Amino acid sequence: MGSQFGETGVDVAGPGARPALHGSKARASARLSSCRRERGPAVVVVILLGPPGVGKGTQGAWLAERAGARYVATGDLLRAACREGTELGRRAQGYMDRGELVPDGLIIELVRQVLSGLSPDTGVVFDGFPRTVPQADMLASVLGDVDRQVDRVIVLEADDEVLLRRMAGRRSCRDCGAVYNIHFNAPRKAGACDRCGGELARRRDDDPATVRRRLKVYRKDTMPLIQFYLGTSARLEQVAADRPVDKVRDALQEVTGT
Ligand code: AP5
Repeated sequence: MGSQFGETGVDVAGPGARPALHGSKARASARLSSCRRERGPAVVVVILLGPPGVGKGTQGAWLAERAGARYVATGDLLRAACREGTELGRRAQGYMDRGELVPDGLIIELVRQVLSGLSPDTGVVFDGFPRTVPQADMLASVLGDVDRQVDRVIVLEADDEVLLRRMAGRRSCRDCGAVYNIHFNAPRKAGACDRCGGELARRRDDDPATVRRRLKVYRKDTMPLIQFYLGTSARLEQVAADRPVDKVRDALQEVTGT
């Protein structure tokens, strides 16, 4: 897979980048919007693909911030639904706790709702969606209805050993959802969120047995999407994610040519 991201103008930051200042964010948005396609409006749709714990959330939120794009993480949306006790949350919880995929029908409805609320000139960074070929087909169909398509697929990669250690060390804030890692990115005060002071907890699906199941599910149901997108006009990039966060950002910067 070659490096072809740069010419779309999605803006990514170098090592140690802080949340974008107004000026740079505005420039990033302008560049995102200035990507002209032969068909339809100038909007970039990016998918972050990769196994559990590889850093999709860590990098995806940052990438969307830099690009002035909407960040859509189905895992986050599902966990919020579980916390709020909605019908979707009640139906999804058992699958998530077992490390299985939530049925396509529920996910497709959820994503349809999110996309229907977006204006046509909004870029999107998807994290954890699509995860199956039927989900990818649905995304293509919904985007096609508004003359859009998936532009980029970035595959983050790391060995299982790295993934297991990251997920064993992950802690999330029960209140604001901020993510830490006791090995790599510890909070200032053990057990408390730096941002809001909320209690930090281990994710229910981060126990070793469930993590192993999630890895198997990724290989069986989600990896085929690489082949799927090779058969589309989307551009694919592979990024080694078994490095510190800033180094992964360096690599993203390199492959995107920004
Ligand atoms: P989801 O929340 O999407 O989980 P996942 O894909 O398994 O990914 P994770 O959130 O575990 O990891 P990540 O890659 O985002 O890594 P992170 O940045 O947090 O989905 C959960 C469940 O919801 C699924 O199992 C399924 O049941 C359901 N679901 C969701 N979407 C679905 C869909 N489309 N269809 C069906 N079901 C769906 O990083 C991990 C840890 O490592 C953190 O502690 C972080 O601080 C640390 N870290 C990150 N990068 C680095 C680095 N470079 N160096 C050191 N530490 C790092």
